[in-house]
This record gives sequence, C-alpha cells and structure tokens, in this order.
Amino acid sequence: MSCVGVILAAGEGTRMKSKLPKVLHKAAGMPLVKWVIDATQQATGQKPILVCGNHRELVEEYCGDLVQYAFQPQRLGSGHAVMCAKEELLQTKAQYCLVLAGDMPLISASTLQKLVDTAMGEQYSGLILSGILEDATGYGRILRDETGQVVAIVEHKDATAQQREIREINSSIYCFRVEDLCGALDQIRPNNAQGEYYLTDVIQILYRQGKKTGALPVEDQEECMGVNDRAQLYEASQKLRQRINNMVMKSGVTLIDASSTYIDSTVRIGRDTIIYPGVVLEGNTQIGEDCILFQGSHIVDSSVGDGTVVENSVVVKSQIGKHTQIGPYAFLRPGSQIGSECRIGDFVEVKNSEIADGSKVSHLSYVGDSQVGRDVNVGCGVVFVNYDGIHKTRTTIGDGAFIGCNTNLISPVKVGDGAYIAAGATITKDVPENSLVIARAREVVKEKGALGRFHHGEHGKKK
Ligand code: UD1
Ligand code: CA
Repeated sequence: MSCVGVILAAGEGTRMKSKLPKVLHKAAGMPLVKWVIDATQQATGQKPILVCGNHRELVEEYCGDLVQYAFQPQRLGSGHAVMCAKEELLQTKAQYCLVLAGDMPLISASTLQKLVDTAMGEQYSGLILSGILEDATGYGRILRDETGQVVAIVEHKDATAQQREIREINSSIYCFRVEDLCGALDQIRPNNAQGEYYLTDVIQILYRQGKKTGALPVEDQEECMGVNDRAQLYEASQKLRQRINNMVMKSGVTLIDASSTYIDSTVRIGRDTIIYPGVVLEGNTQIGEDCILFQGSHIVDSSVGDGTVVENSVVVKSQIGKHTQIGPYAFLRPGSQIGSECRIGDFVEVKNSEIADGSKVSHLSYVGDSQVGRDVNVGCGVVFVNYDGIHKTRTTIGDGAFIGCNTNLISPVKVGDGAYIAAGATITKDVPENSLVIARAREVVKEKGALGRFHHGEHGKKK
C-alpha cells in the first residue's frame, strides 16, 4: 500500500506583507515549504504533490522537481485546493494520501509517519492529526460521538458557544483513503461562514457514509505550529535552530552560546570542533574535527578541514585544508582553494585561486585568479593585478617563491619556483625560477636637502 503527500501552498500569505510567497520565506536557512516537503517525502517515500496558487512560477523555480505541481487558480478554500490536485493524485495510483499545509515547518517526519501508519494499518477513511490547546481560538474543533469516533470538524467561525469549549483542534494535517476522499470532495459545498469549500467537511461526509474516521493527538503540540506572519516566522526559526543546535551538540560539537549560533540543517560538523557566538554556517558546508570557528565567522557552501581555525572571516563557496589559519578579517570569495597548514591573515581577500599547502598570505593582500604553489610567502600589501578593465587574467606562482611586500603582479604573469621578488616591485614579465628580482626606482638622497624646503614655493609663503 502506498501513500502520497499533498501539500497545500496556494495561500497568499497576506500577513507576511511581502513580495515573496509565504512558503518561500526561510526559517533556519530553508524555505518553509522545503521543511514540509522533506518531512513528507521521508514519511511517504514518494514525491509529494504541491498545490500552488498565483505565485506558482516563483515556487516552481525554488522547488524544481522535488515535487509534482497542481494549480489552484482561485482561492476557494482548503477543500477546493485538494480538488485541484485530484488529477495528479489519481495518477499516482496511491491508495492513501497525506494532506498538509506548506507553512508548518516544525512538523516532523516521524509524526507524519505515525499518522500514515495508523491510517493505513487500521484502515481509516480519514484520520486527522489533532492537537490539544489551552486556547483553541481560531482553530477547527474536533467533534466526537459517544463512542469517541470523530463525527466532524467545525470551524471556529461556524461553531456554537458550546463547541468552542472543545480544546481538541484540527492541526490541518490528515491522512485519507484516496478513493473515499475523492468521493467526499464532490459533495462539499461552500455554505458556511466563510463561503469556502472546507476540506474539513470531508470528515462529516465520510462519517455519515459509515466510513471510519478518527483523530490522532500529536505528542508535541509545537509541531503543528503554522506560520502566518513574521513574528511566527521568527518563533518557528528559533525552534528549528534549537533542534539543529541540540543535534550538533549531541554529535560532539561545542557551542559556546547556542542561542547566537546559526547553523543550517544542511551543514555537517566534525567532533570536538568549538564554535563561538555569532557564527553563521550556511548551505552545503562541511566543517572538520577539532576546528575552532571564532566569533562572527560566516561560512557558506564551503568545506573546512580538520584542525583549521577561522576567526571573524567570511568564506563563500571555497575549500580550506587542514590545520590552516584564516583571519581575523579575511574574505575568501568563491572558488578559493586553500591548502593545509596555510595562513590567510587579516584583511586578505582571495578569489578564484588555488593556494597550495604551507603557503602564507599574512596581511593586507589581494590574491585573485591565480595558482599559488607550496610554501610561498606573499608579503604584506601584495596585489595580484588581474583586471585591466576589460579582461580578467591569471597569475601563477611556483613553489617556495617569496613575493616581497607591496609587489604588484601584473597578470598574465608567471613567477618560477624559488624566485625572490624584492619589496615594492611591479612585475610585468615572467620571472625565471630561483631568480632575484628588484624592480623599483632607486631612491635619491640629498643630504640636508630638506632643510631648504620652506624657502621655495607654497610652503615658503605660509611660513
Ligand atoms: C484550517 C482548518 C482548521 C484548522 C486550521 C489549522 C479548514 C477549513 N480549516 O483553518 O480546521 O484548525 O487550518 O491551522 O481547512 N489553502 C489553499 N487554498 C485555499 C485555501 C487554503 O491552498 O483556497 C491552504 C492554505 O495555504 C493553508 C491551508 O490550506 O495552507 C489552510 O487554509 P486556511 O484558509 O489558512 O485555513 P485556516 O482558517 O487556517
Ligand atoms: Ca492557516
């Protein structure tokens, strides 16, 4: 028996006050809908169907082929949204479907799995995931008969004062037998307070048909939290981050201050790594064992080898080897590959460059579009001049070379192995290996020449 997910995401999300569709807003580094897609995919083992509304292009752009798409052209209610997915649903030939909203990022795969297993195992026509809330205002209430079977869901706006006393609510997550759901959907009518086709009416229809309906109370109420505005987005993000950080700590990583550490769920971190406050780790990032990430480091889609220390630096789409030191205040732009036992120091920017093991670029230099060999020393203030205003060109530096302070390497240019460039050079031609290059104007010293300086020109007048 198989089950497919149907995720409802046609809502406008007006309360977000945003150009972006609600389900694409990120919580803990991932769009709301992606959390739901992942949990659904895990619980059902198949590609879910996503019901989109007017923002479908944007949603499709993000979700790609993670899901199949259905389209709800007009927002006529949650029941109508499911009707719009009927064709896609029948095509999957699944006997059961899991219906849920795309704005519930805290829902776990294990809770969904339990709902699906129970519905299929006990042959429910419709099984609701319910919650028990102190204050159930706004939610649909679960009505049960004297035997405890679920009779109907009544929306808050349609409920009597007595029904509003009920604290068991509809989380808006359901598992239906597809055949029964489709039959019941044909019968729902928008004759209610909101004039909408309510998905919730399906339950009453199934019950009246003598089919098996029920509600499974969720264990952790927070899993059913929906995001409707930015305050709830923040709340959901906090809870997701807490979950991620707890998992990270459990796996053997020290977080000095978990409340100010921001780690995406996609990041992997090795044991005995220590992470200081204000560190942000995003996307497809791997951090090795025994690393120290000092305060304020921001690492995106990058890998960091074992024992490497990163301090107050930004690293984007780059790879760093083992036992290397980055920062403070370094900027590794996309395409930087730094070897092991290297040092990239303060105010150094590296872009699209390979720097081999043991090399040092200690301070105030720019290294762009280049290949730097092993054990190279790039002095202070060196500029790889890689752009003439039209073309980007490359610089190559051989193993063991020494590039003196304040050197300009006018690319395209090659510096051979073991070459030594004295400070202050401007290099425009290839440098042979093991050669010494001095390329600067010799200074002129005029003894006591400074003494007469005020007797002439502008300064003299002021005196
Ligand atoms: C819904 C439930 C309510 C439940 C509550 C939990 C109904 C009628 N009521 O109420 O019992 O307690 O969720 O949060 O379903 N949607 C569409 N297209 C539409 C209308 C809705 O895709 O035309 C989607 C929304 O994007 C949302 C979900 O369906 O993800 C629920 O719809 P919404 O209108 O927000 O229902 P609620 O009033 O929150
Ligand atoms: Ca809602």
